[in-house]
Amino acid sequence: MNLPIETERLRLRKYEDRDVADILEYSSDADFWVARNLDWPVSEEGVKAYWEVHRDIDPGTDPTWFSLVVELKAEKKVIGHVGIGVIKTGEHRQGMIGWLLGRKYQGQGFATEAVRALVTAGFDQMGLHRIFARTGKDNERSWRLMERLGMRREAHFRESHVMKGEWRDEFIYAILCDEWRAKQGG
Ligand SMILES: CC(C)(COP(=O)(O)OP(=O)(O)OC[C@H]1O[C@@H](n2cnc3c(N)ncnc32)[C@H](O)[C@@H]1OP(=O)(O)O)[C@@H](O)C(=O)NCCC(=O)NCCS
Repeated sequence: MNLPIETERLRLRKYEDRDVADILEYSSDADFWVARNLDWPVSEEGVKAYWEVHRDIDPGTDPTWFSLVVELKAEKKVIGHVGIGVIKTGEHRQGMIGWLLGRKYQGQGFATEAVRALVTAGFDQMGLHRIFARTGKDNERSWRLMERLGMRREAHFRESHVMKGEWRDEFIYAILCDEWRAKQGG
């Protein structure tokens, strides 16, 4: 994958040592339930251990999960991250995506801008056929983001997991490469 990916306001790029403080800032937001389910312990060592591995992965060739930091160009600040993984390789070419934006930076279209660029790279650069994402029914901001991007709700799993002691539903959204290109105007 050709990195960084530049959009109007953002740069999607590999982690650099200088990002530790910014990543800690958005991921240690105590009121933010997702921050408590992160892939790294919220500490300097935890951030480094997770992100240094991701710096060495090539998302164009390596069939594993790959996370990119999302830098707000105007502030030269990392405000969140996106991830993409090739879930079924070979002829299947199925990709999965995910995202997280610091609370302070929500509501300005940054996630839409970042995920749009990530999906385009998944199709154009990684040669994926279909890209999907899973999200809780309660996570309305996430599924609204996918609907803004034109992804289709393909599944609604009822009471598929327990969170905070209650049964929760899960949605799966997806889009095919041809559909994406048609929506982006070719
Ligand atoms: C999911 C998540 C990234 C969505 O954040 P978000 O702020 O709703 O999404 P965006 O950054 O695209 O912003 C969209 C909002 O900005 C508004 N907006 C302002 N300027 C905009 C612009 N230039 N372009 C698009 N939208 C814009 C939109 O109207 C929308 O507002 P609304 O929700 O009131 O309709 C965020 O809620 C998050 O990080 N959640 C936790 C992580 C998570 O759940 N990850 C997924 C696990 S499955």
